[in-house]
Amino acid sequence: MKQRITSYSTCLLLTVGFLACKTQSPSTTSTDKGVTQSQGVYQYRDEDPTVKPFFSDRVGVIGRNGMVASAHPEASQVGLTILKAGGNAVDAAVAVQFALAVVYPGAGNIGGGGFMVYRDNAGKAYTLDYREKAPGRASQNMYLDSIGNVRPGLSISGHLASGVPGSVDGMVEAHKRFGKLTWAQVLQPAIDLATKGFALTERDALGLNRIKNDLNTINPGKTYFLRSTVPTDTVTWHKGELMVQTDLGKTLQRIQTQGRAGFYEGETARLLAQEMVQGKGLITEEDLKNYHAVWRDPLQAKYKEYNVITMPPTSSGGVALLQMMRFTEPFPLRKWGWNRDSTVQVMIEAERRVYADRAKFLGDPDFVKVPVAQLISPDYLRTRWTDFSWAKATDSRNVKGGNIPGYESLETTHFSVVDKDGNAVSITTTLNGGYGSRVVVGGAGFFMNNEMDDFSVKPGTPNMYGLVGNHANAIAPNKRMLSSMTPTILEKDGKLFMVVGTPGGSTIMTSVYQTILNVVEHGMTMQQAVNALKFHHQWLPDKTIFENGAFSEATTQALQNRGYILEKLTNTLGRMDCVLIRPDGTYEGASDPRADNTARGY
Ligand code: GLY
Repeated sequence: MKQRITSYSTCLLLTVGFLACKTQSPSTTSTDKGVTQSQGVYQYRDEDPTVKPFFSDRVGVIGRNGMVASAHPEASQVGLTILKAGGNAVDAAVAVQFALAVVYPGAGNIGGGGFMVYRDNAGKAYTLDYREKAPGRASQNMYLDSIGNVRPGLSISGHLASGVPGSVDGMVEAHKRFGKLTWAQVLQPAIDLATKGFALTERDALGLNRIKNDLNTINPGKTYFLRSTVPTDTVTWHKGELMVQTDLGKTLQRIQTQGRAGFYEGETARLLAQEMVQGKGLITEEDLKNYHAVWRDPLQAKYKEYNVITMPPTSSGGVALLQMMRFTEPFPLRKWGWNRDSTVQVMIEAERRVYADRAKFLGDPDFVKVPVAQLISPDYLRTRWTDFSWAKATDSRNVKGGNIPGYESLETTHFSVVDKDGNAVSITTTLNGGYGSRVVVGGAGFFMNNEMDDFSVKPGTPNMYGLVGNHANAIAPNKRMLSSMTPTILEKDGKLFMVVGTPGGSTIMTSVYQTILNVVEHGMTMQQAVNALKFHHQWLPDKTIFENGAFSEATTQALQNRGYILEKLTNTLGRMDCVLIRPDGTYEGASDPRADNTARGY
């Protein structure tokens, strides 16, 4: 090892061959043997038989004519029904977004926002930014006290935590441009679920029971999500109970009959503005009327033989994903093997540098100049690699955003849809934290987001995900807060190859990154890639969190010897919902076994 490190230092002195030298791992444990492929299915081999790289043995759903993968079985079923009724991927996606707003109130929403990546079957790509915006009366220091300290919790819970919702306008825009079925048709399944009710899963029931106290405190007198109307009552929801949401059903009917105006004007807008006045929030009817989703140029870049189509800012996710992929592209990850020490080491070091860049450069492109092209350029990324050493973990205190002349509780949600013609939609949507600000709009029956916490409320102060930011992501009226959501589509040889995404706050992009690499580098099926255990590093705090079992003893030992701080999670990472186009043209729908996620295809 010593000899290799010496020759590595020599390499540093040379410009030519820089990466060639860097890609030589000094590892004694990384070998080829972590990877074998048998009939296209990855099989893990390790000297340690106790290691199991997968969260579960779930297998993907195979379909030929359409596939929907989402966080809830009811929502996936809605998407499938729309596809079978002759709807295209956008029709199904719009129907799924509204269905999730009913059956998955923790993250599905009409009171939040999101991002859509769409690739039509002719290969043309589009991205739609329907991220929330700061209200017109928001200000940079609105969460600070008179001496400049952050007032804890204000950006996270209650009325002041909400941005102006974008989901309804996003769906209106998407459907207007690409939908095939009528607006009324795609809204109807969600209306049915709200008015006729749906049977709660165990997870649905636990989620609502968990926030019972908040519901009572923040929403006195409102009973929509409480099992019992008596605040002191201990009666809770149970699996299999029918949940009916009458007010939400009426709101959805207004949206069905009036389109955008059914939410941003009239009765719904009045109820929302009234809720804000009562709770001392900032959103006005004017803010709602002025909200518009934005079509943005998709962020596209090559990774080996793949073209990656992803979300540009206001999400940091696409930039971060491409940076991470390109950081590690020169390294022989496949040869080293899945989650071998060298593989993990270069991925952690890539993640560290990418999150430092995120904090420095990323924000709403309508307000700040984000140097996207430079950030993903191989030349720039090479300069960020110069302080890397195989021998020792880089110290995050010494890593700052790079120099260029001239950013969840896990309760976001993602869904992927592919129709029979090969049109594909990748959508990530959120209220931010679970059940958002926990404010329910009186009379309208939906939760509001707490997305304001995704701004940098004070430079250097971590948000609820521990992410820090700077002036690029400072609060300003009508500005969009930076996101980590990473809805992504991959092409291979010019054809649709993969639709991918996940919730997970700051861990979204690292989970998407690993899931893609699991398929394209390690030969896993889509479902295996989703099942595979994951890890995450985000620059600050300087530690790598990992799902129990993600690292073998040998990998753990090797990384710790080099100074990496590893922290085993008691919970999980990612709730992926993905679709892979298999060589025979069939679709593999992969839904995350970590929760209620379900793929439905035909
Ligand atoms: N609210 C989580 C995100 O947008 O990244």
